[in-house]
Amino acid sequence: MAERPEAAGVDPATLSWAALRALVPAATSCRYLNLGTLAPGVAPLLAETDAGYRAWMESGPGLPLAYFGAKQAADVARAHLALSLHVGEDEIALLGNSSDAINVVACGIDWRPGDEVVITDEEHHAGLFPWLRLQQQGIVRVREVPLGTDVQRIVDAFDRAITPRTRVVAISHVTCHAGVNLPVGEIGRIARDRGAFLLLDGSQSAGHVPLDLPAFPWDAYAITGHKWLFGPVGTGALILRREHLERLPPSWVGSGSGDLRVENGTSRIDYHLSARRYEFGTRDWTKFVAWDAAMTFVERIGVERAFQRGLALGVRLHDQLSSVPGVEMISARDGSLATCLVAFRVAGWDAQPLMETLWHRWRIAVRAVPEKRGIRVTIAFFNDESDLEALVAAVAELAAAPAKAGAADR
Ligand SMILES: Cc1ncc(COP(=O)(O)O)c(C=O)c1O
Repeated sequence: MAERPEAAGVDPATLSWAALRALVPAATSCRYLNLGTLAPGVAPLLAETDAGYRAWMESGPGLPLAYFGAKQAADVARAHLALSLHVGEDEIALLGNSSDAINVVACGIDWRPGDEVVITDEEHHAGLFPWLRLQQQGIVRVREVPLGTDVQRIVDAFDRAITPRTRVVAISHVTCHAGVNLPVGEIGRIARDRGAFLLLDGSQSAGHVPLDLPAFPWDAYAITGHKWLFGPVGTGALILRREHLERLPPSWVGSGSGDLRVENGTSRIDYHLSARRYEFGTRDWTKFVAWDAAMTFVERIGVERAFQRGLALGVRLHDQLSSVPGVEMISARDGSLATCLVAFRVAGWDAQPLMETLWHRWRIAVRAVPEKRGIRVTIAFFNDESDLEALVAAVAELAAAPAKAGAADR
């Protein structure tokens, strides 16, 4: 998949899990169980990211042709994504994050009266607000499908929610709150049969679960670089099937969206005939070169290998937490819905104080999930048994002593 086996001078395929852990400063300075929010820096990748920006700046970023050179260099990320996801380079827009990608779709569709958007009850604000905005403006009606941990019930719920009025189904591939690996094949087929556009938010899936885009239906796929793909903050992409390009005119435009044409005294934009039409304005393109190296790094570790390891650690974590009185698991323990994101609640504790207390007393970093009155743990390649044992011990202590009036214990 990757052209060069090494990323930033290191070939992770040759390293043990312990050696990989040693490359991640945050993995040793604390119990970093929150890759699902942001990937911690990997030392050699950070060095390469810094060096790329520095070289560009030091060379004089406005030298003749320098900016366009930097922009062209960013195409390594586009080529990399195209190759690894089996899509065309013309179907990829390099953006700042997945929120950008979702908004391209939400703002680009020519909405009709009566249109509905189907989402889940586990969307991150990035996958919720673009649709709520449209609903608040009276443009669409949003229908939320409740999830759980039963595959057939989830498919049945989508079967009921997706109707001929559904214009867009916009769901996470892997959800943010409980890490549900949604059956996107079945849901996609229902959406397609009923003529709905399927936008998948891949923020928690790309680089986490083995991804085979040609294997299931989708119309647009949003990716964030700064989670499981270890890219610099501010990298992401929209993958859009080329047949939709003309249906989704860019809503935000600027230098880079296309070419200026003046005909009979009238000016117009000829948008690029590719997803580059959604890229505009002055940006730090060196980040995308660094993202390419990061993706190589992740692939050399092996997405499938790290996923299977994380799942196995997750099963043990489930079993240990389930045996603590007062702990209730939210995520699936195993099976097709399970991922390396594990969520649970602790009786007597609200999400925020629980998250804060774990941090202040034990330097354990997790994410609060107030929507489920719980917390979410991410198990990544740099985490090990010692992180999970520390978490279980801390949770057992807190479960035995519920918070007073929800205040964080500092
Ligand atoms: C499912 C999902 N979508 C979107 C986001 C946010 O993505 P970004 O801020 O990079 O746009 C997150 C972040 O946690 C997420 O979990």
